[in-house]
Amino acid sequence: MKELQLQTTVKVYAYEELDPSMAQLVDIAKAKTQDAYCPYSNFHVGAAVLLADGQIVTGANQENAAYPSGLCAERTALFAANANHPQTPVVALALACYTNGHFTKDVASPCGACRQVMIETEKRFSTPMKVLLYSESGCYVFEKATDLLPLCFVADNLLG
Ligand code: THU
Repeated sequence: MKELQLQTTVKVYAYEELDPSMAQLVDIAKAKTQDAYCPYSNFHVGAAVLLADGQIVTGANQENAAYPSGLCAERTALFAANANHPQTPVVALALACYTNGHFTKDVASPCGACRQVMIETEKRFSTPMKVLLYSESGCYVFEKATDLLPLCFVADNLLG
């Protein structure tokens, strides 16, 4: 038997320490929380995606009375970006969550399904996607989406 260690790195920034372009992306994700449709959870999530050509695509969570039919903010933004700009790499994604009258005090991490979709986008364009998770106590910055999901399932696994 041998043991493997899976390591990942996250940098924790104060909002004021972010590069201006990343702070702007976070600001857009924060604003986008107000466009969430979340009557069931009251948990407003906003996402902003930066493309390699400088365009920004946004998303917000969309809930449904049939609960599984809803979609997280990250996937609304990434699917919109990939559907409308299929040739343009995604270079960064910012996320913010708002509930009970304030942005979350601690970072809320993307769900497993969203991480899997982030990784697919990253692999598809062979371009690292920075992931920024905003909270009132700091901003987690992952240099690439795969840092959020070590040992992930990828297309090569299908080859056996
Ligand atoms: N949600 C997101 O939009 N992104 C996440 O990373 C976690 C959860 C949404 C799904 C649902 O509408 C609400 O937050 C509560 O789970």
